[in-house]
Amino acid sequence: MNFNQEMQEKISEIEAILEEFIPKEEGYQKTIMQAMNYSLLAGGKRLRPMLMVETFSMFNGLNMDILKPFMAAIEMIHTYSLVHDDLPAMDNDEYRRGRKTTHVVFGEALGILAGDGLLNYAFETALKAFDAITASTPTEELTTYRRIAKAMQTLAAKAGIYGMIGGQVIDTEEYHGVTEQERLDFMYRLKTGALMEASMMIGAILAGATDEEVNKIEYIAGNIGLAFQIKDDILDITGTPEVLGKPVLSDEKNEKVTYVTIMDLNKASERVEVISKQAVDAFEELPYQNEYLKSLIIKLINREN
Ligand code: IPE
Ligand code: IPE
Ligand code: MG
Ligand code: MG
Ligand code: MG
Repeated sequence: MNFNQEMQEKISEIEAILEEFIPKEEGYQKTIMQAMNYSLLAGGKRLRPMLMVETFSMFNGLNMDILKPFMAAIEMIHTYSLVHDDLPAMDNDEYRRGRKTTHVVFGEALGILAGDGLLNYAFETALKAFDAITASTPTEELTTYRRIAKAMQTLAAKAGIYGMIGGQVIDTEEYHGVTEQERLDFMYRLKTGALMEASMMIGAILAGATDEEVNKIEYIAGNIGLAFQIKDDILDITGTPEVLGKPVLSDEKNEKVTYVTIMDLNKASERVEVISKQAVDAFEELPYQNEYLKSLIIKLINREN
């Protein structure tokens, strides 16, 4: 089986898990569940749950029933960030994951509320991990409670004002006294890096990795996220809407300063490679290995969507 087939298979497994946790479309308020599921089930690379489960298996994690709610939760948070990112007040984009954006189909109010719903439901979902605890001794039970609590803290912090939301704020403002590259690196580490960090850290935490190992994972994931966002800037110019499933030239339309406005395409691509290489080097120093995960980090450098 080649890498792409393996990846497709893993995506199918992740989507089956996601299906287990999506809200039922019922009740007088069912439009919000429809809007949430519309964006969640539209597809996408499912990269964050994939990073999470691959890191979990690398650290020999055992209880998938505890991990699964977190895999669904991180995809819900990521999807909400996209629904809000596309709103008229933000990037004002009409396509996402190959479909009309949520606010275009359901209206702006539902676009805002579906994003809110996804964020809140992510935490409702992650908390279900506590119900999945099965332990044969009191000590094992306590250890598992602690790991889930730590994973919850990580999920909350990385999604918030010191993480993804903080990065999205910087994206709407101008800053003085720092170079544009410094501003972009800081912004990208937050708006895109933070959820990648959460994904890999939670996989490690729930598998029982040490604090020192979790810190190394945070560093690796931070670099993956930074490289991923620079590549996203490049694809906004070099990609096609068909392959990307979202519009091209969105950044130009919004007069955004991005990596491709502060340097040429080749230089920006070099940055993607250098930063990804730093992630791979740190990855190879870990006491455990996961060949698929390593290939995935390398494949992201030349991704087309
Ligand atoms: C898009 O993320 C937003 C960025 C952080 C660049 P992805 O490129 O992972 O989007 P999906 O999940 O595949 O749709
Ligand atoms: C990433 O930035 C957005 C989030 C963290 C939600 P972009 O605005 O560049 O993402 P795309 O290009 O719309 O997917
Ligand atoms: Mg944006
Ligand atoms: Mg955008
Ligand atoms: Mg973009």
